[in-house]
Amino acid sequence: MCQGVKIATIGGGSSYTPEFVEGLIKRYDEFPVRELWLVDIEDGKDKLAIVGNLAKRMVEKAKIPMEIHLTLNRQEALKDADFVTTQMRVGLLDARIKDERIPLQYGIIGQETNGAGGLFKGLRTIPVLLEIAKEMGELCPRAWLINFTNPAGMVTEALLRYSGHEKIIGVCNLPVNVKMTLANLLQVETERLHITFAGLNHLVYGLDVFVDGESVLEEVIDILSDPDKQLSMQNIAPIPWEPAFLQALGVVPCPYHRYYYKTKEILEEELESFKSGTTRAEVVKKLEAELFELYQDPDLAIKPPQLEKRGGAYYSDAACNLMSSIYNSKGDIQTLNVRNNGAITGIPLESAVEVNCIVTKEGPQPLAVGELPVSIAGLVQQIKSFERVAAEAAVTGSYDKTLMALCMNPLVPSDRIAKKVLDEMLEAHKEYLPQFNRESI
Ligand code: G6P
Ligand code: MN
Repeated sequence: MCQGVKIATIGGGSSYTPEFVEGLIKRYDEFPVRELWLVDIEDGKDKLAIVGNLAKRMVEKAKIPMEIHLTLNRQEALKDADFVTTQMRVGLLDARIKDERIPLQYGIIGQETNGAGGLFKGLRTIPVLLEIAKEMGELCPRAWLINFTNPAGMVTEALLRYSGHEKIIGVCNLPVNVKMTLANLLQVETERLHITFAGLNHLVYGLDVFVDGESVLEEVIDILSDPDKQLSMQNIAPIPWEPAFLQALGVVPCPYHRYYYKTKEILEEELESFKSGTTRAEVVKKLEAELFELYQDPDLAIKPPQLEKRGGAYYSDAACNLMSSIYNSKGDIQTLNVRNNGAITGIPLESAVEVNCIVTKEGPQPLAVGELPVSIAGLVQQIKSFERVAAEAAVTGSYDKTLMALCMNPLVPSDRIAKKVLDEMLEAHKEYLPQFNRESI
């Protein structure tokens, strides 16, 4: 049994790991992690060695007694862990390229967390996470499972429904990023800003915005009506919102809402990148190769700034703040993916939602939201139903459920296209979809 906090990070060879390690180093005084176990699979061995050695140099430079362990043995890492963080990508970036390119080939949006691409990422990921949760039941039953692997909403839904492990939290950097950007646009310190976030992962709305407790929602909507002042992420084209739409919506949309309210423009933009071979997945693959080049430099002992070109920049703030708040029972408010438990009326009690939570050593407690405005409740419910059917499809390997998940998704406009995309994706990803019995198709 280790003295102090033990974290096991699955997918430890990820290019994001230096950011995570930086987050732990920054918080070492309040959140003393004694052992960080970076775990990966055989295929990720080289990346794990490169990024793991950088992590060791970072810790050495910071002069803190945090041990970094690199291993391909997941069980050894999970044993007696206090927190298990998951950031792996099943099928690596080549699978993401297929998630993005195959739907676009049929003229529909290809994205890693929305639509057909998001569905297939979920189908590959959910069984692996359920296996990890099961192992946790034996090796570290009291540990928190903190998942960053996308699609975080669908994955959290599946873990809550099918894993039997109670301590599950889904994390995304989007609420943190939106808060930072809005604070900047309003020219106030982030601590003075409060946003009432509610919805689902990558489909979360800011229902209200406060500075020092006073609502500034109208001012925020006015600011966001300026085409140069948009909320976005590195991986989403910052196509400006129609000011009249923002006024009519009356709440703050998140960057990913563009997929639903600007489907046509996003699709056009994606088709352009498809043709030139520069889909986001392809851009990221290049970026990753560059990052790993840098990480190999024995003189590098900090997180290189190039990592901020990734959409997940600052995710470690979300993850490390969460773990520290649980450890220190801080009682602060964080936006997390948790079991709804009645926080949002009209969403099943047992489903995952992304809402503000009070975080103590008991874990996150969602704050009651009540009913969502009728103008947004339908989309949230539709995507929630999509995630539920998708999670069931991932667990059962059912062709019918997968086809229905696709046909329920607003980004898939035809049953015929859905079937074609489905068949091609099942074939393309079959190595990572053992639960689907190809014989029965
Ligand atoms: C956003 C999301 C993350 C996602 C990332 C993709 O920030 O919140 O969940 O992983 O973008 O970024 P990438 O650089 O991989 O396209
Ligand atoms: Mn995210």
